[in-house]
Amino acid sequence: MAMTELPGGTFSLAEDLTVTRVGYGAMQLAGPHVFGPPADHDEAVAVLREAVALGITHIDTSDFYGPHVTNQIIREALHPYPEDLHIVTKVGARRDADGGWPHARKPDELRQAVHENLENLGLDALDVVNLRLGAVDGPEPGSVVEPFTALVEMQQEGLIRHLGISTVSAEQIAEAQSIAPIVCVQNFYNVAHRDDDALIDSLAEQGIAYVPYFPLGGFTPLQSDTLSAVAAELGEKPMAVALAWLLQRSPNILLIPGTSSVAHLRDNVAATALTLPPHALEQLDSIAG
Ligand SMILES: NC(=O)c1ccc[n+]([C@@H]2O[C@H](COP(=O)([O-])OP(=O)(O)OC[C@H]3O[C@@H](n4cnc5c(N)ncnc54)[C@H](OP(=O)(O)O)[C@@H]3O)[C@@H](O)[C@H]2O)c1
Repeated sequence: MAMTELPGGTFSLAEDLTVTRVGYGAMQLAGPHVFGPPADHDEAVAVLREAVALGITHIDTSDFYGPHVTNQIIREALHPYPEDLHIVTKVGARRDADGGWPHARKPDELRQAVHENLENLGLDALDVVNLRLGAVDGPEPGSVVEPFTALVEMQQEGLIRHLGISTVSAEQIAEAQSIAPIVCVQNFYNVAHRDDDALIDSLAEQGIAYVPYFPLGGFTPLQSDTLSAVAAELGEKPMAVALAWLLQRSPNILLIPGTSSVAHLRDNVAATALTLPPHALEQLDSIAG
């Protein structure tokens, strides 16, 4: 197992794929509304280099961030990539001229997206590709068979090493697993949005990573009186407590908080060293989902 100084240690998604549990989500590096170039290009490059310097070996991205912009900045900042760095991407949507996020889940659209990720990241194969299903903020019913099978074919061709799935229900995960193994699930979850509590436990039993997006609330920063009260009592910021809580919640949880700021990145990594005492955990557990 790879060594890391980062709190939480590492998690093995597969035999050839171990990452630090403290990772980084690159969505915030694109421009406003995740569209177009970043407000501060040099800061975006600096954030990525600082993430690696801090010991992070897991970066989450997608070619539809920007679109293309975020992956191109990752390549500019970090290529040739350190051997232990793993870039996890996602496919299943595209951007329209207005910055909308229409679905792009047909086999030919997924193939195009995989090739665009490879090109913009400067890779011959993608370590993990998540199939992004669902609506903006939660799963939608429907079969995963056609799009997931398309990704399995690209895995068999060597374009993708491992598969994950995003914004899905337990039933859809089981349907995907009946076709091919998955190494991670990426869904909306944080201390105040806990629909997936049972799912996390079941994935932990299977050794599958659960990667919560919007760990800090995403576009609507986390707000909870209980979270603020616990943070005040501990002399910490609410966001720090929210990240520490996730790291303590289950050993299969991987953190990918997003930021466009080196200072926030450092704060977020520092926050993960915080050990929440039992009475704080009890109060946080009482926050309604
Ligand atoms: N699978 C999916 O459908 C999906 C959907 C959404 C996101 N994701 C992934 O999940 C990652 C995380 O989600 P996210 O970035 O949307 O949301 P998030 O991590 O919950 O929150 C990011 C927001 O928090 C702010 N922030 C971060 N650290 C802060 C700090 N220390 N102090 C104050 N503000 C702070 C950021 O602003 P600053 O830039 O100013 O720091 C940004 O506005 C994304 O980067 C992306 O890789 C996946």
